[in-house]
Amino acid sequence: MNNIIELIQLFKEKFGYTDGVRVFFAPGRVNLIGEHTDYNGGYVFPAALTFGTWAAAASREDGVYRFRSANFDTGADVVVSELVYREEDDWANYPKGVLNELVKRAGQEPFKGADILYYGNIPNGAGLSSSASIELATGLALSKLAELEMDMLELVKLGQNAENQFVGVNCGIMDQFAVGMGKEDHAIALKCDTLDYHYVPIKIDGYKIVITNTNKRRGLADSKYNERREECEEGLKLIQSQLPELESLGDLSIEQWERVKRVIKNDVISRRVEHVVTEDDRVLSAMKALEANDLKKFGELMKESHVSLRDLYEVTGFELDTLFEEAAKVEGCIGTRMTGAGFGGCSVSIVREEAVEEFKSVVSENYHAKTGLQPEFYVCDLGDGAKEIL
Ligand code: GLA
Repeated sequence: MNNIIELIQLFKEKFGYTDGVRVFFAPGRVNLIGEHTDYNGGYVFPAALTFGTWAAAASREDGVYRFRSANFDTGADVVVSELVYREEDDWANYPKGVLNELVKRAGQEPFKGADILYYGNIPNGAGLSSSASIELATGLALSKLAELEMDMLELVKLGQNAENQFVGVNCGIMDQFAVGMGKEDHAIALKCDTLDYHYVPIKIDGYKIVITNTNKRRGLADSKYNERREECEEGLKLIQSQLPELESLGDLSIEQWERVKRVIKNDVISRRVEHVVTEDDRVLSAMKALEANDLKKFGELMKESHVSLRDLYEVTGFELDTLFEEAAKVEGCIGTRMTGAGFGGCSVSIVREEAVEEFKSVVSENYHAKTGLQPEFYVCDLGDGAKEIL
């Protein structure tokens, strides 16, 4: 698929008409630093990418929603009175979940049916938020077709609810927020409990952001993810016995943590909390470093983040750690770390422009030699959040 005209042609092949078709786009995201802090009410620093999901959509009058994909043969036909999760609907559970949330908010009345064809170019299962991208493209398309006035922040929360409650993945707010609210050439400094945020220009002249895909399937990722969340909740409860006012680990300073850490006897829980507290602090330092134009420092903090995710939070694994080591060795790579949930997926690196080709070939060769897997590289630009484009 090369352009919107092709998408609309395919819409015609699937649905037999093109009248009234509108096109919506929602990007994927990369998180530059601040991992596993969002569901702890801490800071994250993600950005929207220029690849994502396109949704060509048109209204129907008979109450039926038909979801189709240019990438997959699976799809779903549903009516709003019968929205249930079905394993065999696969990716189409995301749009169904979003529709379900919209109906919860606005009632069935405005939802008169639609045909939607999706096309995505986010690598699947790579941890670049292809699911949040489908959710936001759907939320925007369905709310516009139903003529509902909903601001982007509402759609962001709605996407997260769909994923938590309908799909059953207990994710935080970061992905949907980045996908919905992203801004070209900027990252978003977001505090995840208050949703206070501001945009930070990513002016890194002479450097490129390179995403590297481990191409390792993320088995067990969801159960491990939920396990980490529970460990953090347990840590928070224990700390609250000393600091009853504390509402989330994201509000625990390093000094406070040092004072109370002895209350946690379990070493695993203690390391999880240590990661969250130090990671949160790294995000703040990273933002200061960027303001001061100190990209080197930013890169160092990225590496510290990876080490903490590897040793304290234990969400990296052999492939991501190998990528990290090989990337860090390349001269011209000033920062590198895993991005997203971990357990496979991608890393993000900051690489001097002239060194990008060398980075790709050296990392590729060494990573392959150690893991037997072929990595993929995406030299990426930071783009806008979800929007209507036609
Ligand atoms: C996944 C989740 C996010 C966040 C990251 C880890 O991407 O969807 O909410 O928790 O993992 O930082």
